[in-house]
Amino acid sequence: MTAQNDTAAHQTPRTVMVLGGKTGLLGQSLCAALTNAGWTVLPVGRDDVDLFDTDQIAVFLDRHEPDAVCNTVAYTQVDLAEVEPDLAMRVNKLLPAKLGRLAKQRGIHLVHYSTDFVFDGQGCEPYRPEDSVNPLCVYGKTKLAGENALRELALDKLSILRTAWLFGPGRTNFVAKILSLASQRTSLNVVHDQIGSPTYTPDLAEYSVALLNAGGTGIFHLVNGGCASWCELAASAVQAIGLQCDVHPITSDHYPQKARRPAYSVLNTESFTALTGIKPRPWLHGLREYVFHHLG
Ligand SMILES: NC(=O)c1ccc[n+]([C@@H]2O[C@H](COP(=O)([O-])OP(=O)(O)OC[C@H]3O[C@@H](n4cnc5c(N)ncnc54)[C@H](OP(=O)(O)O)[C@@H]3O)[C@@H](O)[C@H]2O)c1
Repeated sequence: MTAQNDTAAHQTPRTVMVLGGKTGLLGQSLCAALTNAGWTVLPVGRDDVDLFDTDQIAVFLDRHEPDAVCNTVAYTQVDLAEVEPDLAMRVNKLLPAKLGRLAKQRGIHLVHYSTDFVFDGQGCEPYRPEDSVNPLCVYGKTKLAGENALRELALDKLSILRTAWLFGPGRTNFVAKILSLASQRTSLNVVHDQIGSPTYTPDLAEYSVALLNAGGTGIFHLVNGGCASWCELAASAVQAIGLQCDVHPITSDHYPQKARRPAYSVLNTESFTALTGIKPRPWLHGLREYVFHHLG
């Protein structure tokens, strides 16, 4: 599947259902961005519908008749997924597959989020959407399985948006955890040999709306500009808020985790820019905004 501008078949959606919109890190920012852009937004949480019950979802869709559904629901606990692979697969593969079938029957535009962890990190150039995938951990495998299940359905209106290293308001995240630790300690050790694309959820939400408005279908990479190691991201956050805490680089060997992660998973966003004319701003700008406006 290649990314394309599906403007001919595209009609501006007015009603959008955001699964995960009530509590998810991305879901909440996405609801805000869609609302700001003038859409009627239906945030969906666990209390609204059982996402594992196909009939319930079908009834729910038919009651609200959305033009688009954004699926931000995912099993996102990367290390826990190693010991709960079945649950991770249920949420990350079976749910999108089910949504895909229901969306196809109803002509709904489905926007689904995926991850940089579909790559193995052996590359040294920012990954493009069409580059070979080879996830190293259960989380990455289940997210890739979700992508593939959706692609096999050959929906007319499907957007798969791969993103990475999210931070933002509304739910705990790496940056918030680092700042909390840095306020209690004089030094922190943080991994420096994993490089990725830190991404501010309000920016990602805004770019997602632009992509939806442009009728973009296919796989896109949507992240902020630039790249960083976890250590650089942590040190920048500590510096931005002015805490007296030294952030020391360590290698992954010194911070064993259950799940293997790619050493390099920076994402190339050129196809998004070609479609929308938007060049994602540097992650540091998003980080400063987050720190000053939401944590300050
Ligand atoms: N976070 C990252 O750094 C990152 C990086 C790359 C890609 N992504 C992708 O970006 C998307 C959004 O991630 P996120 O960080 O915003 O996720 P998140 O904050 O962990 O939110 C996940 C949402 O899914 C819901 N959910 C999880 N399991 C559920 C279940 N069994 N039934 C119903 N709802 C369930 C959660 O509801 P509750 O609050 O009720 O649990 C929550 O609303 C995902 O596709 C993720 O794979 C994230």
